[in-house]
Amino acid sequence: MQEEILILAIESSCDETAAAVVKNGREVLSNVIFTQIALHTLYGGVVPEIASRKHIEKMNQVIESALFEAKVTLDEITAIGVTYGPGLVGALLVGVAEAKAICFAKKKPLVGVHHIEGHISANFIENQDLEPPFLCLIVSGGHTHLALVKDYGEYEIIGKTRDDAAGEAYDKVARAIGLGYPGGPKIDKVAKEGNPNAIIFPRAVIEDAPYDFSFSGVKSAVLNYINACQMKKIPIETADIAASFQAAVVEVLVEHSIRAAKEYKLDKLAIAGGVASNSELRSRMAEACKKEGIRFYYPSSGLCTDNAAMIGAAAYYEYQKGTRHGWDLNAIPNLKLGERK
Ligand code: KG4
Ligand code: ZN
Repeated sequence: MQEEILILAIESSCDETAAAVVKNGREVLSNVIFTQIALHTLYGGVVPEIASRKHIEKMNQVIESALFEAKVTLDEITAIGVTYGPGLVGALLVGVAEAKAICFAKKKPLVGVHHIEGHISANFIENQDLEPPFLCLIVSGGHTHLALVKDYGEYEIIGKTRDDAAGEAYDKVARAIGLGYPGGPKIDKVAKEGNPNAIIFPRAVIEDAPYDFSFSGVKSAVLNYINACQMKKIPIETADIAASFQAAVVEVLVEHSIRAAKEYKLDKLAIAGGVASNSELRSRMAEACKKEGIRFYYPSSGLCTDNAAMIGAAAYYEYQKGTRHGWDLNAIPNLKLGERK
């Protein structure tokens, strides 16, 4: 019988204070999130200082709830997994310091986790059959990567954004058309009422880097379009802009991913990160994968955006590989995927 490995996972890289208990990498016993979105909405985006303070306030509470809901005690936990980068340094530090304190007091192993590795691992939770190798498109507020998942914890990045992340473009466009923060889910909803062919926004192609992305062009094109409408006193059709912007972004994401899966001869494709909960991306990708005979995987919406269950899944595979961090573990705001501290 497999030994039971229980990970207490902590995530505080941005604006969610989260803790979870995950059994053997794939079974979520609890997944508690305190979201700070309402606080940051007042300012139109995440305010790092406020995020760190709120993490400090909520961290113990969130951990206690995660243990309580999972019906386990700290003594029964095998190891603590914690996001140590990338993210906001002050926010990350709260989770890292908390994890180190618990490990020190309870003599538990400490496993630092890369936030993006967490997003990718969210796919393992609800897809028990998913195993590497596969291709993963990671689309979040801070990252847009196309990665080959060669094995658990082993990645090769074959494409990334040259400028804005996909989620960042969603958030900026949403602000420009008056939808507020966070923009992704709002554009997703409004776009359903609009015509995706109303305005043709640019689809960026990068010479010599077929899997790289660029979203600053489409974002600027939307802003210019809005300015032009305002100058000509033409009413702004929010739903059409949202649908047309989304069509441009999703087309590039799907096209790059399918081409990469074919070139690298991978018959499994997963998506991860906040934007992976986008309904248009999911349906377009599902359609394209079906056509090409590729199996398509995605986490449910609650596991796409930041959470600690995904960190627990990633920490389990890191733990199994022997990853252990010392008291010198630090928050690394620009930690690269696959890089070891
Ligand atoms: O993964 P995540 O929670 O945080 C980061 O690690 O960045 O992603 C947050 C991003 C935000 O930019 C948000 O607007 C976007 O994910 N997002 C969406 C949707 N839900 C969240 N973008 C498009 N459609 C959605 N339904
Ligand atoms: Zn994230």
